[in-house]
Amino acid sequence: MPARIVGTGSCLPVRAVSNQELEKIMDTTDEWIRSRTGICKRHIAVEETTTSMAVEAAKKAMENAGTEAKELDLIIVGTVSGDMCFPSTACQVQAEIGAEHAIAFDINAACAGFLYGLAVADAYIKTGMAQTALIIGAETLSKMIDWKDRSTCVLFGDGAGAAVVKKDEVGIESLVQGADGAKGSVLNCHNRPVNNLFVKNSVELDFAHMNGQEVYKFAIRTVPEAVFKALDKAGTEPDNVNYFLLHQANIRIIESIAKKIGQPIEKFPTNLQKCGNISAGSVPVLLDNVNREGKLRRGDKIALAGFGAGLTWGAAVLTW
Ligand code: UT7
Repeated sequence: MPARIVGTGSCLPVRAVSNQELEKIMDTTDEWIRSRTGICKRHIAVEETTTSMAVEAAKKAMENAGTEAKELDLIIVGTVSGDMCFPSTACQVQAEIGAEHAIAFDINAACAGFLYGLAVADAYIKTGMAQTALIIGAETLSKMIDWKDRSTCVLFGDGAGAAVVKKDEVGIESLVQGADGAKGSVLNCHNRPVNNLFVKNSVELDFAHMNGQEVYKFAIRTVPEAVFKALDKAGTEPDNVNYFLLHQANIRIIESIAKKIGQPIEKFPTNLQKCGNISAGSVPVLLDNVNREGKLRRGDKIALAGFGAGLTWGAAVLTW
């Protein structure tokens, strides 16, 4: 039996930062950001952490699903910006919500993290290794971007989204993932360098670097291919899909993908205007927004897709 998403939740930091606010502190304009990306504002962590937002999103998803923490036997967090190197964000979430029967681990697949997590949870559930899973995408990228680099810092926002997944009659119908590590340098952030008794290196922390145009080309080529593959595996067609929920990096990327898939832009809900790019949090936050707006009806066909650093990508087709 397939795994089905039975509840969603999300959490954004309290502090919203508009393009106009950024205009006053760096060499950018609201016009540039909106016309090149569609983003109008983003939420930036002040009091919040990756873990605190993940916990908040998880609690909302469990409430939405009518699931108790004790029922969970698997917690997966997609993140590249955990608060600690170890323990994992997933283990910290487990402790906070009291999910004592769950195993817990993080996945680093950047903006495809939620799709990778969904695939792992689906495999655990299908093979009987888990019954009830919590999948979270949570990021505080604001601590990893260079606020002096206007070509990246205006794009990202912080936040977390979560979904509870359980075995059911209908649910996830197909999953597609991919990775191209050879192109990893187009979007990267170094960790601490080797620095020990035997070698001395600078311990200055690196920031995220992105070749925006290369990532753009990768996205508009790879995502439609992955979505078509997922539709094919599910034995369905674009016309049968009610909503395509894509990673929220750039409105022009979403418009281009909609065109390639041959579907009206109305089927591609967006929240990047209000949240910016939340990396692994992007797809689950959007899913929760659409769910809570009452747009999804049980039985609807949904396609999800994410792409990002790695390079990695993932797509899924499911019955809601
Ligand atoms: O989740 C990870 C996935 N990431 C993505 O999907 C990002 C994909 N890439 C993109 O979305 C776009 O490439 C960007 C939005 C990042 C950039 O848009 P672009 O149309 O590719 O702009 P560009 O990099 O070619 O830059 C055009 C100009 C440059 O000035 P010159 O050289 O033409 O004089 C930049 O210096 O825009 C300038 N620029 C800015 N100007 C004002 C770059 N950033 C800014 C800024 N404000 N914030």
